[in-house]
Amino acid sequence: MQDVTHLPFWRIMSRYGGVDLYYTEFMRVHSVSRPETWIVDSIRRNPTRRPVIAQVIGNDIPPILRTIKALRELPIAAIDLNLGCPAPVVYKKCAGGGLLRDLPLVDRLLGAMRDAIPGRFTVKTRIGFDSSVIDGLVPLLRKHRPDLVTVHGRTVREMYRGGIHYDAIRAVASALDCPVLANGNVSTPEMAEETLRLTGAQGLMIGRGAIRNPWLFQQIRQHRAGQPVRLPTGRQVLEYIHSLWDETWHEESQEVPHVHSMKRYLNFLGAGIPGDGQFLHRLRRAGSREEFFAICRDFLDHGEPLALEPLPQPLAPASYGQRAVPAGEED
Ligand SMILES: Cc1cc2nc3c(=O)[nH]c(=O)nc-3n(C[C@H](O)[C@H](O)[C@H](O)COP(=O)(O)O)c2cc1C
Repeated sequence: MQDVTHLPFWRIMSRYGGVDLYYTEFMRVHSVSRPETWIVDSIRRNPTRRPVIAQVIGNDIPPILRTIKALRELPIAAIDLNLGCPAPVVYKKCAGGGLLRDLPLVDRLLGAMRDAIPGRFTVKTRIGFDSSVIDGLVPLLRKHRPDLVTVHGRTVREMYRGGIHYDAIRAVASALDCPVLANGNVSTPEMAEETLRLTGAQGLMIGRGAIRNPWLFQQIRQHRAGQPVRLPTGRQVLEYIHSLWDETWHEESQEVPHVHSMKRYLNFLGAGIPGDGQFLHRLRRAGSREEFFAICRDFLDHGEPLALEPLPQPLAPASYGQRAVPAGEED
């Protein structure tokens, strides 16, 4: 996840029970691009002892082939093509989720990447742009034989809101010979189980739920093994926030910008903290480290267990031209 799941975050995740497989943030590919140095660095220094998949985003075949050549030198498990990013700045350039409006181009891209990648080639996709294009996309995936496909069960227009189209993920999982990972809204062990059941997928990709609750992967394993699911206490969540602060702090960090940068994690985590949205409301106004952690202590310095499920939140103020969205779910 862009600006979120970088090296410091991987380091934290691997301490909390760990994930089976990690993806890099996407690398933008265009005529003069080179793989972003900090992403390459995260691959080289991968602290997780688990495989890492390098993700690229773009639509121009020659630079994509050049990027594949560079990535082949790195210790990666696979190269992944992003067909899902819903950010207007990306999709308007016919990249990420924008490609789902141009399946002939997807056909050419998948073919070129499959031919150029001697190892594993994977795809992360949404189900369509305005509406599902699964019927047109599945034959292309069957033709070009990626080794793994992840499906986020929403269209680009749906962004990150609303329900997941489990039937569309199921259609992909049942049509392909390769493993399919289901993605979208998994935030509890029960939802993990239900998503697998509804989609027939072989595994899950988890995004925001992992930021909100880094114990989630361990909890899913406990649940599947029929063991009691261990919930973190408020104080353990407080420790997690301290880890986020410490791990993402670097030589050039400054206190006030660092407080603001923490909100990219806390926006997700905060959605799981009881208190009518007050935790996030107050955090958004914090202007110093002291203030930031005082607010965190007010809500989390206790030994009660926390499920960290996204709770209904008051609406955040709408920015110009956008409709109001629940706090913590902004893009
Ligand atoms: C801040 C943010 C950054 C993201 N960056 C990426 C990315 O670089 N590559 C990608 O495939 N998906 C990215 N996503 C999408 C997530 O991987 C995931 O598909 C989406 O959030 C739905 O899953 P979830 O409900 O488990 O979060 C991003 C999502 C968010 C909220």
